[in-house]
Amino acid sequence: MSGPVPPIDELRERLRAAPSICVLTGAGMSAESGIATFRDALTGLWSRFDPAQLASEQGFRANPKLVWDWYAERRAGVRAAEPNAGHRALGGFAGRHPGRLTVISQNVDDLDQRAGNADTIRLHGDILEDRWLEPCARSPGCDTARASAGTPPRCAECGNALRPGVVWFGEALPLAALDAAESAVNCCAVMLVVGTSGAVWPAAGLAGRARRRGAFVAILNPHESEIDDEAHVVLRGTAATLLPALFDGSDRL
Ligand code: OAD
Repeated sequence: MSGPVPPIDELRERLRAAPSICVLTGAGMSAESGIATFRDALTGLWSRFDPAQLASEQGFRANPKLVWDWYAERRAGVRAAEPNAGHRALGGFAGRHPGRLTVISQNVDDLDQRAGNADTIRLHGDILEDRWLEPCARSPGCDTARASAGTPPRCAECGNALRPGVVWFGEALPLAALDAAESAVNCCAVMLVVGTSGAVWPAAGLAGRARRRGAFVAILNPHESEIDDEAHVVLRGTAATLLPALFDGSDRL
């Protein structure tokens, strides 16, 4: 007897047939690697820390040492973390099917890259990178690698301070990354939205954009998100469970 096709089987079939797939990831993607999310009750960073103090230029200018130290601790956490089965499932698929999958990440860690998706589009920057707080006025620009030790390190020539290379509240996303993400979303056949609350724009708008452009949109998240309505199908589960189930089946998508 055949009944309705379970959503995960339908999604697996759609992935198999899709010439191009986008995966929009959020902090939940790296949760099972031991990196805290932002908005989960109790464990989320923003339930314990004040984003205005720690994730804004104003906050950094008000207390650079506090902010620098907080990022130093998070950087150490990222360096110590390993890609989980979800990252590896995406990396494995990308390796088997070059050019078919685009990961668009809101995460500032490098776990997708380490799992094989070197071309991951990073909407919110890179926590392991430094950049100057003020635009460097020199030509050629001062090398951030040569800043002298300190919290934060400073340029020996002009005193400019280093800051982490992440996008803070009130700042624009890197234009090239956003353009690349929108182009990929515009022409994908399937979009997976994994481990994001959908609370932060413009990243959250990519799911609706994909749907309007004709993609089949699936949300993978153990809890409700703010963009569940944009999805054709919502799978309740974690990234490290669902992504291998979708991509690493016995017939290896
Ligand atoms: P949030 O912390 O807002 O949301 C994390 C989501 O992951 C929630 O919807 C959880 O239900 C889900 N989740 C938790 N564990 C999971 C798991 N194991 N597998 C799958 N999903 C899981 O994080 P983001 O949506 O990424 O900005 O937040 C967006 C942006 O807000 C971040 O990029 C960050 C933050 O301020 C910057 O760093 C610029």
